[in-house]
Amino acid sequence: MKKRINDLDLSKWKKYEDLWTDSLWMIDARDRSGAHTNTYHGNFVPQIPHQLMRRFTKRGDVVLDGFLGSGTTLIEAKRLGRCGIGVELLPQVANRAKKNVQAQEGAGKSEIVVADSTTKKAHAGVATALKSMRKKSAQLLLLHPPYHDIIKFSSKRGDLSNATTVEEFTRRFGDVVANLCPFLAKGGHVAVVIGDKYSNSEWVPLGFYLLQETLKRDPSLRLKSVIIKNMAGNRAKQNQGRLWRYRALKGGYYIFKHEYVLLFKKS
Ligand SMILES: C[S@@+](CC[C@H](N)C(=O)[O-])C[C@H]1O[C@@H](n2cnc3c(N)ncnc32)[C@H](O)[C@@H]1O
Repeated sequence: MKKRINDLDLSKWKKYEDLWTDSLWMIDARDRSGAHTNTYHGNFVPQIPHQLMRRFTKRGDVVLDGFLGSGTTLIEAKRLGRCGIGVELLPQVANRAKKNVQAQEGAGKSEIVVADSTTKKAHAGVATALKSMRKKSAQLLLLHPPYHDIIKFSSKRGDLSNATTVEEFTRRFGDVVANLCPFLAKGGHVAVVIGDKYSNSEWVPLGFYLLQETLKRDPSLRLKSVIIKNMAGNRAKQNQGRLWRYRALKGGYYIFKHEYVLLFKKS
């Protein structure tokens, strides 16, 4: 019998109206329920991990996040009864995430590893976290890296937002894929959340670069979907709509309104 990858009862598939199956995700407002807040600049909306976990994990499964930030993934994992492991480079950010996750009620266990996700230290930390949860592997790997240098998270060398070129950023993201994908169970999924950037009057398609790099660095992955998500809630662009419109009309370009959720499956 084929192993189930989620808790959905497909004999009652019509009742899952809140689960999205289209490749265009239009999200009007951030979910602010539970311990979710919008205080970390660069966080993603909880709806992203929520949708992915319900489709690609079961209760008790492990979700691994290689760029934890404020802990959105772990908060959502806990409330959905999934175990969550998050890796974050910056100790003060990891501490805040820990408090955020503690503030959330739920059954799922959580572990936070403070390390650079490209390193042996991160690898060892994730292995220890899995062991402490009595688990062998993760069913979902979420990667929401900095969008290169759009937001500088710190001045640390290991911080991907400090990569000096797009090539270096892409290669180091690939190092994270190579370091963390071995924890993924066969049939497990990877979701990369990334937006493009604009630099020197040129559109830089970070999403396309990371898509190719992910497939290159783990050849056992198969691309399952390229999801386009709107960026309506982007704080940086709020209140500046008219100025951006003027700049776009003058500069002959289009304003970023989307980012990607790239979905892969380990064969
Ligand atoms: C886009 S944010 C992730 C936000 C997260 N999804 C949330 O909802 O809060 C990227 C995070 O990756 C961290 N980071 C940057 N380079 C890293 C690395 N090499 N290893 C681990 N974390 C890193 C940054 O400190 C930042 O918190």
